[in-house]
Amino acid sequence: MLYLKPANTDDIEKEYLFVRDIPEDENGYINEYHGISRSDFDDALNIIIANSFGDCLPAGYVPMTSYFLWNDSEITGKLDLRHYLCDSLINGAGHIGYYIAPQHRGKGFGTQGLGLIVDIARQVIPEEEIFLRVHKDNPASLRAMLKNGGYIHHEDDNSCFVRIRK
Ligand SMILES: CC(C)(COP(=O)(O)OP(=O)(O)OC[C@H]1O[C@@H](n2cnc3c(N)ncnc32)[C@H](O)[C@@H]1OP(=O)(O)O)[C@@H](O)C(=O)NCCC(=O)NCCS
Repeated sequence: MLYLKPANTDDIEKEYLFVRDIPEDENGYINEYHGISRSDFDDALNIIIANSFGDCLPAGYVPMTSYFLWNDSEITGKLDLRHYLCDSLINGAGHIGYYIAPQHRGKGFGTQGLGLIVDIARQVIPEEEIFLRVHKDNPASLRAMLKNGGYIHHEDDNSCFVRIRK
């Protein structure tokens, strides 16, 4: 069974291995903790959790909750929800970032995981629409967005800006 669980200290060992292995930047999904040591991950996880409450954020950043996508007892993905938009998010990455580990791709997890976080976003964000951005060379992600009710609001040379109505 697939479900989302916020980052938490009880699951730290599995969360550590998963986060360590996410690339630094894949299709715009940024992981500042790529390759992190286990000893440094204690502090990193505390920051990740604090960010959800609006604490320990870099200047100009909005609160963000990080969720792991679990399939029974295994972590398969990480999805992040920014609680509201600022100018840089409106014109950039939007409310949601998501990543599925390579060995779990092509099984519908991206589509289902996005659907689960969209359900949460509907309860959390104040805006009327959920904002997403996808690189034009990432058809799997665009497909997952469209299958979750997204429509292309506008595009530029590199990206499609997708929105999902609440
Ligand atoms: C994008 C990503 C989340 C997709 O995850 P996934 O679990 O493989 O997604 P799904 O299995 O739900 O597949 C989504 C759809 O894309 C389709 N798809 C997969 N690869 C494709 C490709 N190369 N070209 C076109 N469509 C593709 C699938 O067939 C599926 O559509 P369908 O249900 O109509 O068959 C995953 O590849 C990933 O984490 N990539 C790195 C980070 C990233 O790109 N994040 C998103 C940033 S916007």
